[in-house]
Amino acid sequence: MQTKLLGTTEYDIAEAGRIIADGGLVAFPTETVYGLGANAFDDDAVRRIYCAKGRPSDNPLIVHIAQKEDIAELVREVTPKAQALIDAFFPAPLTIILKKSDKIGSTVSGGLDTVAVRMPQNEVARAIIKASGCPVAAPSANTSGLPSPTRAKYVIDDMMGKIDAIVDGGDCEYGVESTVITLAEPTPVLLRPGAVTKEMIEAVIGEIKIAPAVIEGMKNDEVAASPGMKYKHYSPKARVVIVNADREHYEQFVNSRKDCFALCFDDDNVTVPKVTFGRENDDLSQARELFDALRMLDEMGAKKVYARIPGKDGVGMAVYNRLIRAAAFEIIDLTKPFTVGLTGQTGAGKGYVCNELKKHGFKIIDCDAVARSITKKGSPVLDELANAFGNDILVDGELDRGLLASRCFDTKEHTDLLNSITHPRIAQLCRQQADGICVLDAPQLFEAGLEKDCYKVICVVADEPTRIKRIMARDNITEQQARARMSAQYDEDFYISHSDYTVYNNGENIATQIENILEVIL
Ligand code: TXA
Ligand code: MG
Repeated sequence: MQTKLLGTTEYDIAEAGRIIADGGLVAFPTETVYGLGANAFDDDAVRRIYCAKGRPSDNPLIVHIAQKEDIAELVREVTPKAQALIDAFFPAPLTIILKKSDKIGSTVSGGLDTVAVRMPQNEVARAIIKASGCPVAAPSANTSGLPSPTRAKYVIDDMMGKIDAIVDGGDCEYGVESTVITLAEPTPVLLRPGAVTKEMIEAVIGEIKIAPAVIEGMKNDEVAASPGMKYKHYSPKARVVIVNADREHYEQFVNSRKDCFALCFDDDNVTVPKVTFGRENDDLSQARELFDALRMLDEMGAKKVYARIPGKDGVGMAVYNRLIRAAAFEIIDLTKPFTVGLTGQTGAGKGYVCNELKKHGFKIIDCDAVARSITKKGSPVLDELANAFGNDILVDGELDRGLLASRCFDTKEHTDLLNSITHPRIAQLCRQQADGICVLDAPQLFEAGLEKDCYKVICVVADEPTRIKRIMARDNITEQQARARMSAQYDEDFYISHSDYTVYNNGENIATQIENILEVIL
């Protein structure tokens, strides 16, 4: 099929309108993203939209109108709340869902009994709709699954040869699709955030709900309020991972990684190749540039992309909603002090794994060393221990470790008392050492409750004979003594079930196991 490239002259707009009236498909600019339009009353034409986009047929389209009154024939009733929103906002990057009239066919509505209606702000868009003489069904003009097009160039990339015409009206002002709200239910629900924010809508019609999928993504058993929410979306070819961190830690993290791209804000200081999406604290600029940035990353051949996390307020909610889909909901949480908590049974070979992690740029925080340091002469913890276990455990201010051990390991209560004194102090000192991407090497990670401070927990396990051999050699003790130490710890199942990942360290493939884990979590 020959695709005509049109501009925005009077002649071109009339031509675009005529093509739509005749049952053809025209991509045109709106203030949000480019739309791919067809006569909403022409079922065959609408079907061709799904075809050109490769869109699942149960995902309904938005019907675009040129003037407010035109909504009346599309819906069963313009409810008072709908009328209030229309009066307050239309024309706007806002889509309202109501029960549909009989004029709306099941192809447009994706088989639902509702219809989504929007009156675009963009004058070229409205002129084309007007010229066509009919309401215009139009999804975003991208191939299904790819980022919505914010420039004619991207429409050409996706749609050349598949549709009748493309109208080039320059770059889109907002850059994210319209806000979608349903008024077909007793309580209004925001299904897709956009440039008309929750706060702006609530100022007009009072409190609204936000569909959980907006921020969290769909649970497997959840029924989509908006079918569009359940499909993979806005995905570049690259794997995008959101990094939840402030600017400093984001930069530090990205700069410690190899073979990656940064998707960050204009002023972020990164040493890896970067594509930016607007300025920090400027959600409108982020919205405008996000999809363009995602497409650019593909053009640059990016394979792995670390994205700076946007704020979630105002239009930021729309930016976050799109980005988290582009990232398939993958987030690295660097707001926790420790990137990795590393633990495991005695003799499992945790130290070896630690060294491997070091090679990947992790700073290691040695929890045992911290634990030893807090019982050195002069440490305030010693006084608390003396209060709990008797003053004679201190000799000239030095801790008699043997005596303490005999008094604190005799009963579980005593052990718990010891831990309640030492663990908080150890945790505090470890947190102070945390910096950038780091591993907390902690045999007692779970006992101290430190797993909550780790983005991911990795445990190291090994089979029993191997562990016994290692402990005997390491500590120069008998098999019986080794077994006694082992029995004082949680069993292997506990470690495995309480950790995110397990390294099996019987001496083989450690580097590969670590690489595989890091590939998934970073
Ligand atoms: O800004 C926009 O809204 C752009 C421009 C072209 O107007 N259009 C757009 O359309 O983004 P589309 O089809 O890409 O996204 C429409 C979204 C989809 O997630 C769809 O599932 C949802 O709106 N939707 C449409 N009709 C619906 C209905 N009756 N009930 C629930 N969700 C609906
Ligand atoms: Mg779309």
